[in-house]
Amino acid sequence: MVKPVHLGILASGSGSNAEAIIKSCENGRLKGKTVVSVLISDNPDAYCLERAIMHNIPAIICSRSGINSREEHDRNIVTELKKWDVELVVLAGYMRLISSYFLQEFPHRVINIHPALLPSFRGMHGYKDAVEYGVKITGITVHFVDDQMDHGPIILQKSLEVVFEDTEETLKERGLKLEHEAFPEAIELYCEDRLEIIGRKVKIKPN
Ligand code: GAR
Repeated sequence: MVKPVHLGILASGSGSNAEAIIKSCENGRLKGKTVVSVLISDNPDAYCLERAIMHNIPAIICSRSGINSREEHDRNIVTELKKWDVELVVLAGYMRLISSYFLQEFPHRVINIHPALLPSFRGMHGYKDAVEYGVKITGITVHFVDDQMDHGPIILQKSLEVVFEDTEETLKERGLKLEHEAFPEAIELYCEDRLEIIGRKVKIKPN
């Protein structure tokens, strides 16, 4: 039996993606392939911490208060991740940039979900930006993290139609459903060792 991949989830907010991944490990496509070893939040008030606790996942706060630099904060997080024997780091609504120190510690082993079809609408408000711009199609992206914001090699994307009446809220509601499918799908590809990074591109190897 192959050893399951140990995931560490970083989240800053509600944690619906974190919970979708946790549920997938419990009873979905990730069952037997992955375990969530720890969830870490930089926000002491974030609901993601409660979601983790409800599923008996260790929930840790790595607060930024009193910390002077991004790297110092990331050192604390990396120490925790290593303590929990994490192999793959999953950014599930983690609203901070990752330092190059962090990336060196987890080379090609940090993935992020973004609420738009990259390279469109980078940043913190993918759904709002898509509605305001008036695009007819938007979507979601799962990608490897590199040293630029919302930039690394793309693992998968799913598209979403935008209708005239959409608001940020209605689009986000539909988009999150796609995110909750796509993130476990991408993690499964990683666990099956089917992702090969070639320059900017990710080749998905057949099963
Ligand atoms: C998700 O829509 C995710 O794509 C987005 O934050 C939300 C977190 O929701 N991430 C970014 O915007 C990163 N640039 P959740 O806390 O319910 O998973």
